[in-house]
Amino acid sequence: MPTKAEFQDRMLSLGLARVAEQAALASAKLVGRGDEKAADQAAVNAMRDQLNLLDIAGVVVIGEGERDEAPMLYIGEEVGTGNGPGVDIALDPLEGTTLTAKDMPNALTVISMGPRGSMLHAPDVYMEKLAIGPGYPTDVVSLEMSPKERVEALAKAKGCDTTDITVCILERPRHEAMIAEVRSTGAAIRLITDGDVAGVMHCAEAEVTGIDMYMGDGGAPEGVLAASALKCMGGQIWGRLLFRNDDERGRAAKAGITDLDRIYSRDEMVTEDVIFAATGVTEGSLVAGIKAEPGWVTTETIIMRSKTGSVRRMTYRSPV
Ligand code: FBP
Repeated sequence: MPTKAEFQDRMLSLGLARVAEQAALASAKLVGRGDEKAADQAAVNAMRDQLNLLDIAGVVVIGEGERDEAPMLYIGEEVGTGNGPGVDIALDPLEGTTLTAKDMPNALTVISMGPRGSMLHAPDVYMEKLAIGPGYPTDVVSLEMSPKERVEALAKAKGCDTTDITVCILERPRHEAMIAEVRSTGAAIRLITDGDVAGVMHCAEAEVTGIDMYMGDGGAPEGVLAASALKCMGGQIWGRLLFRNDDERGRAAKAGITDLDRIYSRDEMVTEDVIFAATGVTEGSLVAGIKAEPGWVTTETIIMRSKTGSVRRMTYRSPV
């Protein structure tokens, strides 16, 4: 049985980048075609094929859903050749299916890997999220604060006025009150229509993206992926699972979660060092989207290791 010590994060990071890259290339053909399902399926197929080439004994812990609803990359699916370290894998083959179908910015293919037991087995429910970038004291903001209090606390810690803070929020009717409260502080809001993994990651490069804080409810699996990204890039994220019915509470029980009200910090969602890769599908502010020129295709992938905090951006160009 492989041990944790054998998690070859350095060697595996390039392999992980290839997985993200190939998924993006597969879904690129469906950018702007109005077909979310086809774009997602193309990314899933490619991601699975590439993962199965890696010398790992991988288990998907954040995936496409339960086995009965997702034939591929379902939670619990074993991937890789089986010859290598035992690893947990969190993935979203296409984060932003609608963004892809509509050719809107920041659709990504996303994957993270760590030693067995390193990631929260978040069920496919919603999660209340709050994230900020690096350089702030621990718990400067919290999920327990109101949106207004969060903006005020962050402005104080940053040494600026609340009007100099920009918050990223998913544009949803459920966020109307939150948006109004943030606006009452004078802070700016970057509304996004989808893609909160990218939304959270924007906080880690605030000077480049202009985003200081992310807040709002989105997918719990995306919350764990975002925590994994921030563990590499720096920054804090907190998440609390949200349950709408007994079926969702049952999913949590199945995943071994007993405290349904618990607030998870970044390092409680991702407990050990991990690697993370994401490739741009559509044009984006974190990584470039896929570019097709006559005879060539180019992708950009961000590859990160939390052990060292290294962030690489890799351009791949291939003849077609
Ligand atoms: P998909 O790529 O699976 O469509 O998810 C996109 C997304 O915007 C996530 O980034 C986010 O966490 C979630 O959907 C929000 O869910 P909802 O669309 O139900 O508000």
